[in-house]
Amino acid sequence: MKKIEAIIREEKLEAVRKVLEDMGYHGMTITEVSGRGKQGGVTLQWRAGDYHVDFLPKIKIEVVILDDDVPAALNAITSCARSGEPGDGKIFVIPIDNAIRVRTGEEGINAI
Ligand SMILES: Nc1ncnc2c1ncn2[C@@H]1O[C@H](COP(=O)(O)OP(=O)(O)OP(=O)(O)O)[C@@H](O)[C@H]1O
Ligand SMILES: [Mg+2]
Repeated sequence: MKKIEAIIREEKLEAVRKVLEDMGYHGMTITEVSGRGKQGGVTLQWRAGDYHVDFLPKIKIEVVILDDDVPAALNAITSCARSGEPGDGKIFVIPIDNAIRVRTGEEGINAI
């Protein structure tokens, strides 16, 4: 199992949620986060002068999936979440040792 941690634009959440569901993944965690990439935020031009915003709002999607599904999930998320502009986001792939469904005690791939 791997955890896919995808930090994406807020307006791309719906499309990414849908492709994950189409792959059979209904369980996921969504968090509103603030972040910055290599540009380190954005500088906005106001009448009063320039104003630098260091951290921008993004959505973090965490979904634990089977190893075999990782390449397809990465392709699907990348193509759904891309606008082509800076700030499209980033995806991290993290190994998962185990998972447990609390209600039943099921473990591993049976729990996701
Ligand atoms: N190295 C990192 N570690 C953790 N989170 C990151 C990292 N890089 C980016 N992020 C997260 O991803 C979000 C989007 O990053 P962003 O897409 O701007 O990356 P980038 O490397 O600057 O690429 P681009 O040049 O396309 O903008 C950030 O707001 C932050 O939440
Ligand atoms: Mg950036």
